[in-house]
Amino acid sequence: MRAQTLVKLSLAAGLFVLMAQMLPSAQGADDPVALTGLRGNASLANDNPSNTFKQERDRAPLDRDFVQQPPLIPHTIASYQITKNYNKCMDCHAWQKTKASGATKVSVTHFRTREGQELDNISPRRYFCTQCHVAQTDAKPLVENTFQRARGLQ
Ligand code: HEC
Ligand code: HEC
Repeated sequence: MRAQTLVKLSLAAGLFVLMAQMLPSAQGADDPVALTGLRGNASLANDNPSNTFKQERDRAPLDRDFVQQPPLIPHTIASYQITKNYNKCMDCHAWQKTKASGATKVSVTHFRTREGQELDNISPRRYFCTQCHVAQTDAKPLVENTFQRARGLQ
């Protein structure tokens, strides 16, 4: 009995030493990427001064990378408010506004509720446009990656 316990103990100790040796190299492989969020180093308790983010210029829309992608916004959206009572985006993108504004009509998919009912105005689940659509930017990739545009769009 005692001999068995000893063997088990030394095996366990051996494993521990082995793992301790392997750990540092495993960590080295994915060193953390140093990213800075839009908040910078401001603590959660403090607000940043407003408008420190980079404004995008209005440009022609970039191509989509996959068919189901929410198209990127090709214009600045600074001060375009989306509140409970008012949606600035719909001021130009609503179907009855697009003739005058020259904006793309909101997709017909945006009138369907999540239960599949077709509404005659924007569906609540599509109301907060910037939940899915973001302003386009020519930012370089933050980490190396092998992403390729969907084959159907190449
Ligand atoms: C003052 C009018 C106006 C407002 C307000 C506006 N847009 Fe636009 N938007 C346009 C116009 C015009 C275009 C077309 C630009 C082009 O095709 O070059 C456009 C294009 C887009 C596109 C690209 C569509 C495509 O086919 O690629 C998206 C997405 C978009 N807007 C989203 C939004 C969102 C989200 C908001 C609110 C945060 C918004 N827009 C507010 C006028 C507006
Ligand atoms: C839940 C995600 C989501 C929300 C919220 C959303 N969209 Fe979209 N939008 C998409 C996707 C995905 C597409 C592309 C596929 C499609 O047409 O449904 C799209 C397509 C579009 C297009 C292009 C239509 C075309 O014919 O090419 C416009 C313009 C647009 N959205 C505007 C808006 C506006 C304005 C709002 C807010 C009122 C909004 N979207 C809210 C996901 C969203």
